[in-house]
Amino acid sequence: MSRRRKVLTATGVGLVLALSVIGSGLWYHLARKGPPAIFDDPETHFKYGALGLKPGFPYYLWTVMPEVFPDLLPTSGGWEVFGMIDEGRGYPIGFAKQTVGFPALSPNCALCHTGRYRTSATAEPVIVPGAPAGALDFQAFNTFVFAAANDPRFRSDVLLPAIEARFDLSWSERLVYRYVLLPTVGKTLRQQQQGAAWMNTRPTAGHGRFDAFNLFKISVLGLADDGTVGTSDYPPLWDQGAREGQYLHWNGSGNSLREDDLMSVYPLNQGPSGFLEESFDRVTAYLYNLPSATFPFAIDAETAARGQVTYETHCASCHAFDGDRVGQVTAQTEVGTDPAFLEMWSEAFVDRLKSINSPPFAFPGLRRTDGYLNVPLDGAWMRAPYLHNGSVPGMVDLLSPEAARPAIFHRGSEIYNPDKMGFQSSVAGPGTSEYDTSIRGNSNVGHTYGVDLSEEEKRDLLEFLKTL
Ligand code: HEC
Ligand code: HEC
Repeated sequence: MSRRRKVLTATGVGLVLALSVIGSGLWYHLARKGPPAIFDDPETHFKYGALGLKPGFPYYLWTVMPEVFPDLLPTSGGWEVFGMIDEGRGYPIGFAKQTVGFPALSPNCALCHTGRYRTSATAEPVIVPGAPAGALDFQAFNTFVFAAANDPRFRSDVLLPAIEARFDLSWSERLVYRYVLLPTVGKTLRQQQQGAAWMNTRPTAGHGRFDAFNLFKISVLGLADDGTVGTSDYPPLWDQGAREGQYLHWNGSGNSLREDDLMSVYPLNQGPSGFLEESFDRVTAYLYNLPSATFPFAIDAETAARGQVTYETHCASCHAFDGDRVGQVTAQTEVGTDPAFLEMWSEAFVDRLKSINSPPFAFPGLRRTDGYLNVPLDGAWMRAPYLHNGSVPGMVDLLSPEAARPAIFHRGSEIYNPDKMGFQSSVAGPGTSEYDTSIRGNSNVGHTYGVDLSEEEKRDLLEFLKTL
């Protein structure tokens, strides 16, 4: 063997060895699958359980982003500035932490379906699993992450030292983060940003609202952006069992509980691959029996009893669990509320959803409708702000004529005002966003049931609604 050949061979062997070491390091840090995040306690599982086992947002990167890009945050602080709730785990409710290659976070149902309230500015916040995430500004969260991915500081030289100040990385982990993971994450986020460009062409959703189905339609299913605005409030997910057989979603798009829940997990898990069906079934079993939140202030029983009579006469047929119209749709022309959400559920979207057939994901029962759902009002107090677009801050406002409802108010506060039966909405400040009812999709007109009742009747009705 010539000397030259020998050298080549030796180098070759060295290279193969090095590659296989790096290769196993790569495999270890990019593809190995740890145990999925599953918890025995049903509530913990709802808050932190995984619905799929596939790579998520790198956990180390997550922990340093607010400190590396503080100027890109809407106000100073950590992830809680987006209304996320951190119970001290190092990551918020609504995320599962597990290792698929690298430790990472993946969102679950509790992100948008767990809320909080305070009985006063100084009281401790109370977490209510299943309640609407009234303080969550999911669009602002996306905007921040995308802005960071485009920032010159989003590079390994900056991010890695910040990560290493908190975590001890092995040498192979460090190499993988520096040369593969962080650059890939940056690139992926910038690609995702292009897929989510439609979001910036819409009125901002603000706190407690999101255009979840345009995200599904455009960013996940790749349908053309039809320019519609589908921004809506997050509804609560409690008492799902009592809704069995009723239509669900603001537009009453389907009446199969399982199909509707699966339709929600599909975009979260970005399709069927890696779906953890048993884990998902445990979440839905929890929601099936989850009781609605109880009003945390005093209720005058006598006043409420009088109010019940008014409720039975004017509201119960559409809103009580035993009402003959509950869980059915009232035409938009009748209820008169903002029509934008209905336009978003286009024929093309329904057809595309119905064409999905990768068991258990199939949605044959979905439909387009011309109206809004007569929703059960369990936990009514915690459903504020009211209507599908969250355009009416308090129950008192909903029982007022359209012209008397606030034209501009502020969403995002967790401080509850029992008198108006809604969250504090007159004060701007960090953690709140302005809601302007003159903007497309934000109209507060319609649903004038009860507005002509006498002041006494309204007072009594309000007291009764607190008992629901
Ligand atoms: C990014 C936020 C977000 C996440 C995460 C999310 N949802 Fe939702 N969900 C919404 C929004 C917004 C609506 C209201 C839109 C509508 O009614 O069509 C909604 C509505 C629903 C409804 C209809 C409720 C009713 O009473 O009409 C169900 C059921 C539901 N979600 C289940 C789930 C489940 C199950 C998960 C987890 C697999 C989940 N959602 C995760 C945002 C979210
Ligand atoms: C004819 C049926 C009908 C009657 C009667 C009716 N509502 Fe409604 N209600 C609806 C519909 C439909 C919606 C959803 C409208 C939307 O979101 O655009 C709704 C929404 C609501 C909401 C908002 C729920 C949420 O989560 O935001 C409240 C609160 C409410 N109604 C209270 C009442 C009260 C109180 C009465 C009696 C004074 C009443 N409704 C009478 C059909 C009705």
